[in-house]
Amino acid sequence: MSNTPWWRGAAIYQIYPRSLQDTNGDGIGDLKGIIQRLDYIASLNVDAIWISPFFRSPMKDFGYDISDYLDVDPMFGTMADFDELIAKAHSLGLKVVIDQVLSHTSDEHAWFAESRQSRDNPKADWYVWADPREDGTAPNNWLAIFGGCAWEWEPRRQQYYLHNFLKSQPDLNFHCEAVRRAVLDNVEFWLKKGVDGFRLDAITFCFHDAELRDNPAKPADKRQGRGFSEDNPYAYQYHWYNNERPETLGFIEDLRALIDRYPGTVTLGEVSSEDSLATMAEYTKGDNRLHMAYSFELLTKDYSAAYIRSTVEALENAIGDGWPCWAIGNHDVERVLSRWGQGKGTPQMAKMVSALLGSLRGSLCVYQGEELGLTEAEIPFDALQDPFGIAFWPNFKGRDGCRTPMPWQSEGEFMGFGESSPWLPLPENHRSLSVASQEKLADSILNQFRRFMAWRSTQPALVGGDIKFIDTKEPILAFERRLGDEIVLCAFNLSDDKQTQQLRAYSTATELRGHGLGGAALMTDGNSGGLQVAFDGYGAIFLSVKADEQA
Ligand code: BGC
Repeated sequence: MSNTPWWRGAAIYQIYPRSLQDTNGDGIGDLKGIIQRLDYIASLNVDAIWISPFFRSPMKDFGYDISDYLDVDPMFGTMADFDELIAKAHSLGLKVVIDQVLSHTSDEHAWFAESRQSRDNPKADWYVWADPREDGTAPNNWLAIFGGCAWEWEPRRQQYYLHNFLKSQPDLNFHCEAVRRAVLDNVEFWLKKGVDGFRLDAITFCFHDAELRDNPAKPADKRQGRGFSEDNPYAYQYHWYNNERPETLGFIEDLRALIDRYPGTVTLGEVSSEDSLATMAEYTKGDNRLHMAYSFELLTKDYSAAYIRSTVEALENAIGDGWPCWAIGNHDVERVLSRWGQGKGTPQMAKMVSALLGSLRGSLCVYQGEELGLTEAEIPFDALQDPFGIAFWPNFKGRDGCRTPMPWQSEGEFMGFGESSPWLPLPENHRSLSVASQEKLADSILNQFRRFMAWRSTQPALVGGDIKFIDTKEPILAFERRLGDEIVLCAFNLSDDKQTQQLRAYSTATELRGHGLGGAALMTDGNSGGLQVAFDGYGAIFLSVKADEQA
């Protein structure tokens, strides 16, 4: 394993800095809070942290609207804090991945302030400007993900500018070479600081169609949400012209050439396109594009053995030498226990889904609080912060419910998050799930998470092996992970009901222990002489099987 780059098969813990730990009493988490909690994160047996944006920002999209890429927002601390954070993370053996939001800036960025002034200033073409149509309306039919038209009027230029997200997040014009160079310079600043990699926000959105062609309409039966609201008219179009443009590949290759000058650093793209699995494959192909990518495929409500199998198989068939990264939760979607559990998720389900994530081929992102089994918080309308939720209330309540502060202890008004009222309320039902209370219980979701991650890292087949699904009946999901002669058969009961599953292809198997997950027993099938597994609700089993006996 020693020649394997660290990121292949790595477990990456996503920190949402506003909600990890507040140390200065303003109700918002900060870098000092992250530093304070790094020992805890290292104790989870993960390999890396990914920190959501902490750069200077007016916070209209909570940091995904950057006004200065080279500075820490005072709300989060100082550059000295960040230096200390990297040093401490590295001393604990944790790699540090930061978020880079390249496709758009804040409207308060100096580049936009200049660009919007006139049609002939030095940055006039740094953003996507277009004349109105003859009747004064927007140049084409493109829509913004967060609601409404993707074009906003700028009176000074008598032109519209493009924003794929909020109107305060103008899109950079990547067709302009000076923009691409400036963006790469900003990336290099952080490489020089010693970060180990980047999560590339909305990377498919960098380029737009230079001809500004209209997006075609999408038929009603094809409008499934990609982690975003299905009630959003954004779903009514194929986003072929404002997203996933072919020029992106050239930029990705330039970015990779820069990254390669800093050995050991890595890129993780966030992919959202009409066929995200194909785009993940395309963006991670060969050794001159992204190292890995994740998409929204396991971040939707779809939850069945057939869905997970067909998604992972479709990616495996497409990806060739590319590398996947899977996530079942993040700061953009309902918490997995509520989303997949439909409100009935149990502690055992929380343990099982984390183990399932950690058993798929690829790297994985674990979202802060997932290791505690946190559920989605109900945020009343008057406490909502997310502009996406405010725009689509009540059909879609936005992303605040997965962004509430970490419950560190069961006592105290703010459960150890800080000394004053936090930016989002801590739900009362998270109190009993606090870190301190779970640390005391050997069999808690948290301690099980730690056990599983420690065990996973001792199983080369799970970290780096191939994957092959085996036929099982719903709701059992089973696959082999194979590295050389070593085969680990992983099987999960996705339901809360007892199940039995025959494994006719195997006559012997050794049950692997040490991962701590219970709820399944290996037996001999009295009829066929093959193997059979009896599962309790959300049980899982890991078996060492022989190469010559595989299905
Ligand atoms: C991020 C979101 C953000 C959007 C715009 C994403 O996909 O994960 O949180 O709102 O990009 O930057």
